[in-house]
Amino acid sequence: MAKLSFLSMGMILFLCCCSAAAAARTAPAGQGYSKYKDPGQPVNARIRDLMQRMTLQEKIGQMTQLDRASVTPEILRDYSIGSVLSGGGSVPFPKAKARDWIDMVNSYQNGSLSSRLGIPIIYGIDAVHGHNNVYQATIFPHNVGLGATRDPDLVKRIGAATALEVRATGINYVFAPCIAVCRDPRWGRCYESYSEDPSVVQSMTSIISGLQGEIPAGGRKGAPYLGGNDKVLACAKHYVGDGGTARGINENNTVADWHEMLSIHMPGYYKAIIEGVSTIMVSYSSWNGVKMHANRFLVTDFLKNTLKFRGFVISDWEGIDKITTPADANYTYSVQMGIGAGIDMVMVPYNHTVFIDTLTRLVKADVIPMSRIDDAIERILRVKFMTGLFEKPLGDQTFLSQLGSQEHRDLAREAVRKSLVLLKNGHKADPPVLPLAKNASKILVAGTHANNLGYQCGGWTITWQGGSGNNLTSGTTILGAISKAVDLDTEVVFSENPDPDFVRSHNFSYAIVVVGELPYAETAGDSTNLTLAEPGGDIIQKVCGAVKCVVVVVSGRPVTIEPRVDQMDALVAAWLPGSQGEGVADVLFGDYGFTGKLPRTWFKTVDQLPMNVGDPHYDPLFPFGFGLTTEPTGGQ
Ligand SMILES: *[C@@H]1O[C@H](CO)[C@@H](O)[C@H](O)[C@H]1NC(C)=O
Ligand SMILES: *[C@@H]1O[C@H](CO)[C@@H](O)[C@H](O)[C@H]1NC(C)=O
Ligand SMILES: *[C@@H]1O[C@H](CO)[C@@H](O)[C@H](O)[C@H]1NC(C)=O
Ligand SMILES: *[C@@H]1O[C@H](CO)[C@@H](O)[C@H](O)[C@H]1NC(C)=O
Ligand SMILES: *[C@@H]1O[C@H](CO)[C@@H](O)[C@H](O)[C@H]1NC(C)=O
Ligand SMILES: *[C@@H]1O[C@H](CO)[C@@H](O)[C@H](O)[C@H]1NC(C)=O
Ligand SMILES: *[C@@H]1O[C@H](CO)[C@@H](O)[C@H](O)[C@H]1NC(C)=O
Ligand SMILES: *[C@@H]1O[C@H](CO)[C@@H](O)[C@H](O)[C@H]1NC(C)=O
Repeated sequence: MAKLSFLSMGMILFLCCCSAAAAARTAPAGQGYSKYKDPGQPVNARIRDLMQRMTLQEKIGQMTQLDRASVTPEILRDYSIGSVLSGGGSVPFPKAKARDWIDMVNSYQNGSLSSRLGIPIIYGIDAVHGHNNVYQATIFPHNVGLGATRDPDLVKRIGAATALEVRATGINYVFAPCIAVCRDPRWGRCYESYSEDPSVVQSMTSIISGLQGEIPAGGRKGAPYLGGNDKVLACAKHYVGDGGTARGINENNTVADWHEMLSIHMPGYYKAIIEGVSTIMVSYSSWNGVKMHANRFLVTDFLKNTLKFRGFVISDWEGIDKITTPADANYTYSVQMGIGAGIDMVMVPYNHTVFIDTLTRLVKADVIPMSRIDDAIERILRVKFMTGLFEKPLGDQTFLSQLGSQEHRDLAREAVRKSLVLLKNGHKADPPVLPLAKNASKILVAGTHANNLGYQCGGWTITWQGGSGNNLTSGTTILGAISKAVDLDTEVVFSENPDPDFVRSHNFSYAIVVVGELPYAETAGDSTNLTLAEPGGDIIQKVCGAVKCVVVVVSGRPVTIEPRVDQMDALVAAWLPGSQGEGVADVLFGDYGFTGKLPRTWFKTVDQLPMNVGDPHYDPLFPFGFGLTTEPTGGQ
């Protein structure tokens, strides 16, 4: 009898599988009582109730995440897709307003709600320095700059502000924070890392309680958490060892023994789990030659079983495809290894049918056990129920005014001024150059990065790779901020790349030279020479040879500047400050003091790399933790 009912249940599952889409149209959900729809029921009971109603097809659909560019409400309905994302720059249309985003997300949500069981989607986006894909959102400094602040409370407030801006667009899930511990600045994602020091990275996981809300006293530490409709689900990434790859090559191999793994790359995850991070994204990289996306030991045995992570594990974009080299060489193998390793949701992101069909085949052939699918579904549903998503699936206009609000821009400005690191301030015996006088009669502003909002925001801004120019989004350039900060009768002359004779003939009191790296993201940012974008070096030489100069470097990491430091009168690392250039002027002119500390070792030459604090042969240009200070002068 028992055996028979087991068999017939298998048959029912199979039959439902074929008729799910038809059933959706003939028997709309919501008629009569469904325990899983009752918010009065405990989450575990809701999960159990819903799971036993789900077909295999619906379960696999829930494990699927697609980019917005390849979904329709009908696909979401017919396949019971679990999640939609915006990849970098994947927007409804250029310069879309918050309302447009809400309409888009809600139209997808409507599709999901009209599926047989009406399971809502979560919508994910790379909000990695503010809600950075969205036109006119506040762009906060990239993580490397936040690491320089050493201010976990500030970073938590940035998380809360980002959550509000994301909610303004009807979105409930962000692929942040990146808690990589970048050990080699040649890595193109180094700016996404708070620091080379795991303890700094660990302290900055405070952003999770800003994004998701803080687990109340007495609340269960370590379970996924969401504090309310003004909060968003977070995602700690990229598990694990993404910042440790050989020569900083993106997505490459991290060679490390277990002790190094535990002491350098893992501490951020312990803390993130305690703070209730809801999801964790797997790294493209390998650990000792094994792709993380196929690493059952680290994903299932360690993260889920040992660390007791109870949220869901998501792949990176086409992450399982890249289990093979070349990518997609054997997709069946990729799905088998990825799901087998313990990945719960797959960022497919384009072709749902290939993924769904492949996984379905593997389950039906008993290659992947049903228990593995059920583990994934239980985790995904836990996050969805705990979010309150079933009760309030649609975005509304409650938070519209949060996008790019003055309050958030003021917070970004605070972050910028705390992130600046003063590396040099005058030649040895001479008086300090900074803070600068606001009442000089004429000053020069020069350099490739002085008047370029796109450059100062860096990658992951409006588009994946970032952009150039001042119409990218709204904000204040460093030049604009300087012009606003100085006295009304101070003449500010801007010349990007001036001739030395021009500089000498103009009797400038001083020059501010802003140079740096061009925007980049991921592999496109891998660099072997870490040079300033041309003609940055020439501009430093010409201007600093002709007038007292302060050099501001806008970059995602330390860059090669050793030969030029003697030419400069003062040197400031500004990292990638984002949309609020005012924060730079605030400290240059002494309204606030410099307080930032290097979150990374500043090398002399690239052949020293990798070189991190604590290494035996440590011979930096500026050591980890270095940063001169100035007293605020009220700008006089
Ligand atoms: C979603 O569906 C509801 C009714 O079913 C409708 O009122 C609403 O306009 C739809 N929203 C979107 C964005 O499609
Ligand atoms: C690491 O990079 C090298 C050089 O580009 C490449 O040949 C190798 O396949 C990469 N290894 C991994 C694991 O991606
Ligand atoms: C692809 O991988 C599957 C699963 O590991 C394996 O059975 C199959 O033989 C592979 N196909 C090829 C063409 O290598
Ligand atoms: C998905 O891939 C399958 C098989 O390669 C192909 O037939 C189908 O057209 C693809 N669908 C989309 C939407 O690209
Ligand atoms: C600028 O202000 C300072 C402090 O008030 C004053 O000492 C200095 O003379 C002023 N310089 C000019 C050029 O006005
Ligand atoms: C910004 O301006 C540049 C020209 O300066 C133009 O090519 C580009 O299309 C503009 N971008 C937007 C988003 O308007
Ligand atoms: C240069 O500026 C200083 C003070 O800013 C002034 O005393 C001097 O006369 C100026 N020289 C010329 C050539 O304008
Ligand atoms: C530095 O390397 C980049 C490629 O990563 C190259 O485009 C650039 O020309 C190099 N710069 C110098 C000064 O060698």
